Amino acid sequence: MEIIRSIRAMQETARNIKERGLTIGFVPTMGALHQGHLSLIKRCKEENHVTVVSIFVNPIQFGPSEDYTRYPRDMEGDIEKLSALEVDILFFPEVKDIYPDDYKTYITVEDLSGKMCGAFRPGHFRGVATVVAKLFNIVKPDRAYFGQKDYQQTVVIRKMVEDLNFDVDIVVCPTIRERDGLAMSSRNLYLNEDERRAATLIYQVLKRAEEMVLSGESFDKVRDFMNKTLSAEPLIREIQYASLFHPERLEELSTGNISVYKEDSLILAAAVILGNARLIDNIVVDLTK
Ligand code: PAJ
Repeated sequence: MEIIRSIRAMQETARNIKERGLTIGFVPTMGALHQGHLSLIKRCKEENHVTVVSIFVNPIQFGPSEDYTRYPRDMEGDIEKLSALEVDILFFPEVKDIYPDDYKTYITVEDLSGKMCGAFRPGHFRGVATVVAKLFNIVKPDRAYFGQKDYQQTVVIRKMVEDLNFDVDIVVCPTIRERDGLAMSSRNLYLNEDERRAATLIYQVLKRAEEMVLSGESFDKVRDFMNKTLSAEPLIREIQYASLFHPERLEELSTGNISVYKEDSLILAAAVILGNARLIDNIVVDLTK
């Protein structure tokens, strides 16, 4: 595996790969890699000649009181995992190169960035959209891979790609879970044993909510159920949201049930604070079957 730190070198390498008629698949990450990340990388390797993974803990997508400084970093372990998967290139830039002192340009995907997580993390999706746009310009991928785990992120990135005419296909891959259903996340490392046990409730609530939706229960009742069940867990300090959302507009679905709802799918999603971790999860409910 080649490790590239300089932006210029990554751009040159990408240009050379393209000149040879090869496709570039790209998996952007913030490191502390787990099976969720690795599943994207495996898919990317299947579909492209060359696979580039980036590791960059992006300071501008963290709020001032968020976990930027304590975000888990494990470069040695990450390099081992990436080498084992035979990743071609690891792009590992420095903050001072991505955001030099005189940095001025930011991308805001309006409306979508303020919904769901965006309501609780102002500036977060501006930070994500900006860094992903920069990484696309540096790595020049034909395809880029994102996890459904961060559902809103996939919607924001797709919209940015569409609106700014990025010549890249966005591929969204399923959420990888622990045996007990908890969605894998680098932030699960923040949980102590009791919190880790309590965290399984999130996916259980989403699955139960999915059954309720499919059996025709009203959206209001489903939302009530989700909030009541999550609030009954004393280790959950805050429920930021636990609700039903439109799959593209990300608006909360207020009234009705599936018999009056017109779309092919809906999103059940929750964001909670458990101990020191902010955890999110979602299920896409397919209504076409
Ligand atoms: P990070 O949290 O490191 O995640 C990198 C990619 O892995 C994202 O596309 C995310 O959705 C995916 N992922 C995380 N957990 C997953 C799981 N359990 N199953 C499947 N995929 C999973 O998301 C980011 O980094 C950043 O916002 C980034 C896009 C790199 C921009 O800074």
